[in-house]
Amino acid sequence: MENQIVICMGSSCFARGNEKNLRLIEEYLEKNHLEASVKLSGSCCEGRCSQGPNIVINGECFSGVDQEILIDLLNSKIK
Ligand code: FES
Repeated sequence: MENQIVICMGSSCFARGNEKNLRLIEEYLEKNHLEASVKLSGSCCEGRCSQGPNIVINGECFSGVDQEILIDLLNSKIK
């Protein structure tokens, strides 16, 4: 697959917003018909809990990802 998104599902990131972010990503992929070109997976903890919520897109780790930032990231990083 062309793109890879790893969303931290550790309890800290999950509570800080990745629960919503996960739903947002799924909706985004569906809406843009990207399910086939993006591998979405979860990780347990990226070890940067205090900067969470953390999401890794194509090997690059982004911290403090709120919903607005997330949409911008998806628009710019997903091919
Ligand atoms: S819970 Fe996400 S970095 Fe620890």
